[in-house]
Amino acid sequence: MSEENQWGSRLGFILATVGSAVGLGNIWRFSYVSYENGGGAFLIPYLVALLTTGIPLLILEFSFGKKMRGSTVLAYKKLKKKWEWVGWWPVLSVFVLLTYYVVIISWSLKYIYYALSQAWGANPEAFFYSEHLNLTSGIESIGGINITILLSVVAIWFINYIIVYNGVEKGIEKASKIFMPLLALLMLIITVRGITLPGAVAGINKFLEPDFSQLLNSKVWLAAYGQIFFTLSVCFGVMITYASYLPKDSDIVNNSFIAALANCGFSFIVGIGVFGILGYMATQTATPFEDVVTQSIGLAFIAFPKAINMLPAFSTLFGVLFFSALVIAGISSSISMVEAVVKALNDKFAWSRRKASTIVALAGLLGSLIFTTGAGLYFLDIIDYFNMQFSIVSIGIIQCIVLGWIYKASKLRDYFNPISNFQIGSWWDIMIKYFTPIILGTMLILSLISEIK
Ligand code: PFF
Ligand code: NA
Repeated sequence: MSEENQWGSRLGFILATVGSAVGLGNIWRFSYVSYENGGGAFLIPYLVALLTTGIPLLILEFSFGKKMRGSTVLAYKKLKKKWEWVGWWPVLSVFVLLTYYVVIISWSLKYIYYALSQAWGANPEAFFYSEHLNLTSGIESIGGINITILLSVVAIWFINYIIVYNGVEKGIEKASKIFMPLLALLMLIITVRGITLPGAVAGINKFLEPDFSQLLNSKVWLAAYGQIFFTLSVCFGVMITYASYLPKDSDIVNNSFIAALANCGFSFIVGIGVFGILGYMATQTATPFEDVVTQSIGLAFIAFPKAINMLPAFSTLFGVLFFSALVIAGISSSISMVEAVVKALNDKFAWSRRKASTIVALAGLLGSLIFTTGAGLYFLDIIDYFNMQFSIVSIGIIQCIVLGWIYKASKLRDYFNPISNFQIGSWWDIMIKYFTPIILGTMLILSLISEIK
């Protein structure tokens, strides 16, 4: 008894999928993951992962979702009853991701407020850890829930809840039509500011400079694939769900390319802006560039406030705009994750959208609590690592095997090519059947080995 949902227009679908793709991952995660993996060294594996796996998987998920017309769970169940579990895995993973993703959006919300008075003061690093997070060392500090973070987590969950509760067209599509143009404008302002600062070029060079010695490092490759899945929202059940609301003969290939290129273009442009600002900071403080940014997960919340402190003019405004961009990008992504879980429950248990979204929001809020404790950052780091490097990579492999071999990639291609403008050749079958599962499998084994050592 699942409800009939459909996008109101093609533009609505594109804005919603780009909204899902463009998120904290493009601003906050991209910058710190590329840092942890040697800066410019990251760009080559990233592009390889995009072209050989990211876009092929997006095409796979769009066509599978559209054909099966349902959540991941229903889609795999329709394929064959015994594959239903393959659909639950991404739902579980995306729910876990959601619990901490919302918390990071809520940090950004708090930082809009801090930006008004530049409350982080002269030492944004100490501020982030001790004032903002109230961080003590490790797991032992789980007792102390941070009340103001909790309040902003509740606020972000509430916004997500209201949007998804209102449905595909009246909730998600409508919100995306407001969020996405606003986000594009904010991005433009941030980037133009970044590249016009003195010293910007040095920073941008760091971003673009390839480091070929890192290409033999399996960790860098694994991180690049993880980032591509994360940034495109593939292997999370989200794109399958969103595509299931497409009208009958919507183009698949074109939409996939538009969504992927818009997302990666956004990352790239913001990257240039961000690195430009960091380059400015390095010249202002006469510190080596590598020392300007050292903190991983906290990067956006430490390096950026530092940079904002140093801006020659309009620094308060700039801070407010930057953290607003994070919040908007974040919410347009988190609603897609909520939707993937809500639709799965709706399909499986015939719960109404209202009931399912209420339950998901409350359960998610409960899950988010652990990240609002003094040990929150510690949990976040570990859970994000395992979720992305192991769970999501495994889902990628399984999807390729089930859809590429058992359902047959060629059959899917015969389905999406006739309704698409732009035709995909048999290279796609090779990517889905051989290349992607082999490369993901190798990476998984290598990282398991390095974990055991
Ligand atoms: N693509 C989003 C980002 O880059 O921030 C994150 C994301 C959204 C991941 C939706 C997974 C997902 F299902
Ligand atoms: Na993204």
